[in-house]
Amino acid sequence: MNNRITSPHSIESDGGEVGLRPLRLQDYIGQEQIKANLEVFIQAARQRGEPLDHVLLSGPPGLGKTTLAVIIAKEMGSNIHITSGPAIERPGDLAGILTNLQPGDVLFIDEIHRLSRAVEEVLYPGMEDYSLDIVLDKGPAARSIRLQLNPFTLVGATTRAGAVSAPLRDRFGVVNRLEFYTPQELQRIVTRSAGILGIAIDPAGAEEIARRSRGTPRIANRLLRRIRDFAQVEGKGVIDLAIAHDALQRLEVDAVGLDNSDRRLLLTIIEKFSGGPVGVETLAAAISEETTTIEDVYEPFLLQLGFINRTPRGRVVTGAAYRHLGMQPLGQGELWENF
Ligand code: ADE
Repeated sequence: MNNRITSPHSIESDGGEVGLRPLRLQDYIGQEQIKANLEVFIQAARQRGEPLDHVLLSGPPGLGKTTLAVIIAKEMGSNIHITSGPAIERPGDLAGILTNLQPGDVLFIDEIHRLSRAVEEVLYPGMEDYSLDIVLDKGPAARSIRLQLNPFTLVGATTRAGAVSAPLRDRFGVVNRLEFYTPQELQRIVTRSAGILGIAIDPAGAEEIARRSRGTPRIANRLLRRIRDFAQVEGKGVIDLAIAHDALQRLEVDAVGLDNSDRRLLLTIIEKFSGGPVGVETLAAAISEETTTIEDVYEPFLLQLGFINRTPRGRVVTGAAYRHLGMQPLGQGELWENF
């Protein structure tokens, strides 16, 4: 799945993504409300000489959660430490990280919903009053000592806001949900990235890439790199509408940004399950994917397009999806559409 050209997950060949990421808030395109609020919170914290309050960022992969964390650190004039929920296996791992933080540092924990309960327990006092409780000895002789940590800002990121435990979520002062980008915002991002990569692109070429990038900058930047190859080898070195259109066709990305995997998911619901409803586990088995991949990667954009609906009895394909695939809605899809 991660080898899909439209995968929103970062893959190794994205190495250069780092160079395309904006480092300052003013260069970050889109998510306007989040940006405007963060600007105030950052300025206020700086004026008070305090670390920024803890920030939780949620939303589908590839929308710029890590980028925002890096920007927050930069704007605060702090260092950032980057880790992830699954990487912090034991409470001792987190204790090691926390005791190494310098005053004002940003600790970024990606996939924070995957922290174990035991690790979360260590994080709470750290977030609340920058303290760390260390338990010495076991059994009746057990006692704990409290260490004072340097003040820090935790930036947590998650693709599943609903999977973050309530006590953890409550300890974030700033909670933001990133939304898919508009085609206009993505066009600006593609144009900016082309400038950094030194590729000529015209507005129609950038618009075409933007329209087919599933509202996701990481996908837009990846498509841009591949289309650059076509422009270089088979064109005149400029990404115009014709080159973009032709290249996207050859990459099997359709007019709204769906690739073969998305179409296979929709066709499976239509052909094997009469348009639905079908439970997500059953669907996952039918297309040999993880349930969480369907929920976190495929579904958010298909829901946004209005191509599937979630109902209490499972997923259904909508009439819009049938029409997009050039099919007549026959099964129950239409009936369930407005459930
Ligand atoms: N590159 C990736 N995401 C971006 C964004 N939101 N703004 C500008 N450039 C980007």
